[in-house]
Amino acid sequence: MPKKLLYSDYINVKTLRESLRIPEEVPEGKDVATWPSAKKVNWKPGKTWPTEKPWCHEEVLFIRTHQAFEIWFAQIIHDLESVINEAVSIIYQNNGKIPKVELAKRLSDKNKVNGYFYEPEAKISLSWFTEENLNTWIQRLKRSVLVLKNCLPFYDNLATMTPKQFLEFRFRLDPASGFGSSQFREVELMLGLRELHESKFKPQNGVESDELPNDCLKPTEKTPMRSKMLSFVTSLPLEEIHRLARRRDFYNFRDIIYSILNAEEFEEIRANNEERVKSFATKNIETINASLILENPSISFQLFELFQSCLELDEAILIWRQYHMSFVEKMIGSRQGTGGGGIKYLNDILDPEKAKFTNQGFPTLWESRTVFM
Ligand code: HEM
Repeated sequence: MPKKLLYSDYINVKTLRESLRIPEEVPEGKDVATWPSAKKVNWKPGKTWPTEKPWCHEEVLFIRTHQAFEIWFAQIIHDLESVINEAVSIIYQNNGKIPKVELAKRLSDKNKVNGYFYEPEAKISLSWFTEENLNTWIQRLKRSVLVLKNCLPFYDNLATMTPKQFLEFRFRLDPASGFGSSQFREVELMLGLRELHESKFKPQNGVESDELPNDCLKPTEKTPMRSKMLSFVTSLPLEEIHRLARRRDFYNFRDIIYSILNAEEFEEIRANNEERVKSFATKNIETINASLILENPSISFQLFELFQSCLELDEAILIWRQYHMSFVEKMIGSRQGTGGGGIKYLNDILDPEKAKFTNQGFPTLWESRTVFM
């Protein structure tokens, strides 16, 4: 008879329990083999972190909270990746071209920032995507929004640890910090936040290195300390840097949405709304197209929903950052972060001026909110 699948194996509970890497303590005089909470861990004492006792009780909460976030980041990656891969392969199969949409170039051009002007080499057609494709994408994007939002109360759980209890083990975290969460970075890159990571891939005065991916620099002694700490090379294992670089170099959600916003069907939609289009003055084509859908969802309710989900994703990341930042300030005030940044770094990312270019995956969709009627 085939072996029945047990819950424990299916869910991989063993790995989850072992993922803590903190051996539970067995009281003096008690036997490891019989004490109920004692368990074997793969981690070898003294080899890698954590190297010293005592384990702090709250440290378990701290690690488990990060792990819980990472599990859900993995789910978001799973969902977003499936959408990106499906869209890219449909466009490829139809010999379409997807432009890599870079907003950073617009940093010096503040009057025209809200979109990206490009002439696609070959426009895509919306007819390539079935209703089922679009519905599935919308479902997965909406789920990712919910996941990001529903993780926020994890910070409230963590806030039951007092700032003093945190300081008892914080010294061990050097330079470990959420800054080094490659999965969070992957989510950002998938949404199109490439520009946000320029300086992390390329620290000031860095140099090329064979072991690093293309277009990624290693800090040197000339690199200022802050730029060095806030670099991927300092804060991530090599294989994760490579994974992120691959993600950076691949198409992201922004590229796909901008392709869709340039689909050939929009020519007819604009022709049918000639008077309205004239009143858009200097707006770029993507913003006009997005606004027309926003004004008339009946043109395509699915596009309306797709664009809506993209905005909600931008918003969910923003809320995540704000929630994290105020939690951090409650916990450590303006002390320097273990990753080398601290509250100032977290605050800088939220600066609304910079956010237009670096912290919004879909600026043109935001702009459409200003001009639609
Ligand atoms: C006591 C708890 C925490 C403190 C004091 C804290 C503090 C900080 C600080 C100061 C930074 C800026 C980089 C640095 O200097 O290290 C940072 C970044 C970050 N933290 Fe936390 N954090 C905490 C919990 C968490 C948790 C539970 C997560 C969930 C994964 C997380 C995820 C992140 C991420 C993703 C960044 C990078 C943000 C960015 O670069 O935009 N943090 N954290």
